[in-house]
Amino acid sequence: MKKVEEYYAPWVKGIPMYISDLIEKAWRDPKLHRMMSNENPLPPSDKVLEAMVKYGKMANRYPDQGLVVRTKIAGMNGLDGPYNVMIGNGSSEVYDNIFRMFIEPGQEVIQHTPCFGIYQLRGTLLGAKMVNVPMVYKDRYLHFDPEAILQAVTDKTKIIVVANPNNPTGNFMDPKHFVTIAESGIPFIIDEAYVEYAGLKMSQVALTKKYENVIITRTLSKAYGLAGMRFGYALGAKPVIDQISGSLLPWNVGTIPMWAALAAFEDQEGLAERVKFNNAVVDFITESLSVIPGFVVFPSKANYILFDCGATGKTGKEALAYAETKGIILRGESKKYGSDGWFRVTIGSREENQLFVDTMLEFFGVKK
Ligand SMILES: Cc1ncc(COP(=O)(O)O)c(C=O)c1O
Repeated sequence: MKKVEEYYAPWVKGIPMYISDLIEKAWRDPKLHRMMSNENPLPPSDKVLEAMVKYGKMANRYPDQGLVVRTKIAGMNGLDGPYNVMIGNGSSEVYDNIFRMFIEPGQEVIQHTPCFGIYQLRGTLLGAKMVNVPMVYKDRYLHFDPEAILQAVTDKTKIIVVANPNNPTGNFMDPKHFVTIAESGIPFIIDEAYVEYAGLKMSQVALTKKYENVIITRTLSKAYGLAGMRFGYALGAKPVIDQISGSLLPWNVGTIPMWAALAAFEDQEGLAERVKFNNAVVDFITESLSVIPGFVVFPSKANYILFDCGATGKTGKEALAYAETKGIILRGESKKYGSDGWFRVTIGSREENQLFVDTMLEFFGVKK
């Protein structure tokens, strides 16, 4: 008799369950300051909470396919109708759905590193080979490298994915480079998880009208502040959205998330309040920490800021450990570009941001 492991698909063998140790830790100890997972520190608005309660009372019923919220999303993005929108249980699920429709084992997904981990997680599960194209670190800035992305294309390339703004670097790629990559004809996913912090004017959604190979993804987990609701979506040309929607599980988005999402979209004041709070704090932290000699603060248009403290003589790990002594959880980053000084902070509450700044100035020995 063969062993059970001999029956697993070879490319999934040994893939573990994804667990964020930091999130697990934060739920276990609510006193900790969660400044590590790009969550929104503000709770849902009353309008969103009302929708959750209203539709919670109908939770005995199966949801529909979200026609109302999909129509709303299409309207907000200048698209024709709900058939340009696919909704998912967070944009992580949307990645899963899109990848399933393109990737066969052995084919390649190009990602621009450093970047969010879901592309690799879902790509690997489908047997894809991840091709990492690094951003260029020059003049205390991480630059996008569209030419290198195109040079990495082979006849096995099935998907190119770029986040805009990128996580963890926080910057936008020049719009003209999106056109250049779109022109390749290769399925090109633009991850706009954080675009609302800079405004939808920064979106590349108009490209989906000209290029069928361009798909935009978004989430309500960030500026809208609904990470725990799990709601994300993809925008694209009708034939493409039709095709990728073929991979959806029936009723993948619950009644409560889809109506809470609609309430959030209708509550633009609630969004504006969150964006204003966030962007003011990004400026505050950026200015406060820029005084540390040798410390690199990457300019961010999102709800996190990346740092490289390599030239200060300290490591990112040491900064994380010091922050932890004050109950602050930050996000570490692997060694890259010859530096082990990388770490990232997520914007927290007013008190948490001040505590973070004070803690960092203290750690790097700068007097206020
Ligand atoms: C760039 C990027 N895309 C997508 C996501 C996934 O968000 P969600 O699955 O909550 O929609 C994140 C979350 O951190 C992210 O940073």
